[in-house]
Amino acid sequence: MSGRLQGKRIILTGGVANIGKEAAKAFVREGARVVIGDLNEKAGAAVAAELGQAAHFIAVDVTKEESVRNLIEKGAAWLGGLDVLVQNAGLQHSGKVTDFDAARWDALFAVNARAHFFGAKHAVPHLRKAGKGSIVNTASLAGQRGGPGMTAYSASKGAVIAFGTALAMELARDNIRVNTICPGWVDTPFNQPAIDFMGGRGTQEEVVRQIVPLGRQAVPTEIAPLFVYLASDESSYMTAQALTVDGGVYN
Ligand SMILES: NC(=O)c1ccc[n+]([C@@H]2O[C@H](COP(=O)([O-])OP(=O)(O)OC[C@H]3O[C@@H](n4cnc5c(N)ncnc54)[C@H](O)[C@@H]3O)[C@@H](O)[C@H]2O)c1
Repeated sequence: MSGRLQGKRIILTGGVANIGKEAAKAFVREGARVVIGDLNEKAGAAVAAELGQAAHFIAVDVTKEESVRNLIEKGAAWLGGLDVLVQNAGLQHSGKVTDFDAARWDALFAVNARAHFFGAKHAVPHLRKAGKGSIVNTASLAGQRGGPGMTAYSASKGAVIAFGTALAMELARDNIRVNTICPGWVDTPFNQPAIDFMGGRGTQEEVVRQIVPLGRQAVPTEIAPLFVYLASDESSYMTAQALTVDGGVYN
């Protein structure tokens, strides 16, 4: 264990699979204790068991403020305080703007955008108590660059980026940093709606070969180091940034 996060107390949403799970594993490997919050209780129990005593699972629905408050309060109690909040829970729907309906639009915004407000609102008092802190939000390359079928998803992720920069200004003098991670294509089942919209896996792989300078999708372990960096004191002079990890698309 190299201990880049030794002693850090972290709450992470959306941490039971893929990008979030790899972040949770990296946090524990680097010496942190982690409370994982997710809607998926079965996978959450399994991940907590896999990670051992440094990890604890609390069921949460990030679309509900009371549920997020419960995660932060119980999580901070289990951890004995809070140093880092990572908001990674996300949802994807794809579809042409003319086919989209208000319910799917609202569902995306509830998970991808509004939840970040709930998390920050309830975590900031704990971070202030700690004297400093880091908030890391997961947005997407889709919040920086558009694509067909992605209006709702892109808008929700663009909101996360804007929320993060404004929050960073509000919290800077509390020594609480706020940064946003914008992954490009990461090969997880999360992208199935986009893949279906594009006409199947074959077409999507061809698009990736054409538009991604590195010529391939990422795997979740390639995103995890950025979470570690932003959670750690190594990034102590970095705030209000949206960091893109996308194989070179956004340039
Ligand atoms: N996979 C990609 O290509 C990609 C690219 C850019 C950004 N992202 C973002 O990365 C994050 C993780 O994506 P992933 O690919 O690992 O997908 P994933 O589906 O494995 O992770 C999303 C997690 O969020 C949880 N979640 C969804 N709704 C919730 C709710 N209401 N309350 C609590 N938890 C909820 C899910 O249970 C799941 O564990 C998401 O925010 C996604 O938008 C993914």
